Amino acid sequence: DKGGYRHYMLKEIFEQPKALGDTLSERFAHGRPLEAVLGPDAAELLPQVRGVHIVACGTSYHAGLVARYYLEQGGGVPCTVEVASEYRYRDPVVPPGTLFLAISQSGETADTLAALRFARGSGYVATAAICNVPESSLVRESDLVLMTRAGPEIGVASTKAFTTQLAALGLFGMLVARHNRLDARMEKLYARQLLHVPAQVEKTLQLESAMIKWAEWFADKHHALFLGRGPSFPVALEGALKLKEISYIHAEAYPAGELKHGPLALVDADMPVVAVAPNNRLIEKLKSNLQEVRARGGQLFVLADPDTGIRSEPGIEVVTMPEHIEALQAPLVYTVPLQLLAYHVAVARGTDVDQPRNLAKSVTVE
Ligand code: F6R
Repeated sequence: DKGGYRHYMLKEIFEQPKALGDTLSERFAHGRPLEAVLGPDAAELLPQVRGVHIVACGTSYHAGLVARYYLEQGGGVPCTVEVASEYRYRDPVVPPGTLFLAISQSGETADTLAALRFARGSGYVATAAICNVPESSLVRESDLVLMTRAGPEIGVASTKAFTTQLAALGLFGMLVARHNRLDARMEKLYARQLLHVPAQVEKTLQLESAMIKWAEWFADKHHALFLGRGPSFPVALEGALKLKEISYIHAEAYPAGELKHGPLALVDADMPVVAVAPNNRLIEKLKSNLQEVRARGGQLFVLADPDTGIRSEPGIEVVTMPEHIEALQAPLVYTVPLQLLAYHVAVARGTDVDQPRNLAKSVTVE
């Protein structure tokens, strides 16, 4: 049942405020996340954790890339993130005190499951899973489990599963970091910021009409570039993945500082460049990267915080977020307009949004 929406994907994009609210509800007490959300063994295992190895595929891998910032910047917890099909075929070195974390919407992705099974005998403190399907293999086989509560996701392109993973990872990050460098005052601040995200996402959905306008510009293009820095780089990766999956436009994401090391050669008037520009400590660096694009005649599409001072002018289309977005919130909130952009480009091109060619919802073969 598409609930009156034209596609499941659009319905699922609009379900995000609820899915996020559900994922966060009843998981905090006295303004801090509850350890028990990870299961009965969390109280014993979490204090031992000094580092995290995250493994996942596709969109879930992008969620992992964001989590690294939550763990390292907020908590001083070293973290590596790797795609499961690579991780399982090398010989990862596991420092003492390391937790293995698999992220998967379905909990049945073959490479992710194989990575978990490999990890079980590899000297980790424990294995953990962030997953959306309670009866999945991943959930059954992991020591610690944090469920996302996105509800069933039908569209092949993952949307609400991704943002609920980010919410779960925010929570998970606090639970690990509090045994490392995160103090109680900061933890409460982060918890408040996270709990405000469903309301921010609700407001951000109103950017749909602006994304429909942007989509007209993209519909006849063959390539697009997505830029971000810091935690916005994985958001750019996710924006590019959504666009290529459902509209079949070749899209690539780059950390904006890498532009001049190669991809700038591609930039011309036929290459739209999307930039993710929250107002954080990297904004001035990002602005000079955007100037590099403008100087080559590239058309810029910038999603920015209202307080960045970036304004629309010829060659730069700016859409501002409904309010200032904090660092922890930005990956969740900024993802939403990029989902809407990909969706409306695909609709404009007449592709099969919910069932893109060559793809399956759950990849149970290697
Ligand atoms: C992209 C997408 C895929 C999945 C990937 C992992 O929109 O949906 O990249 O994220 O196949 O799937 P799960 O999370 O079920 O392990």
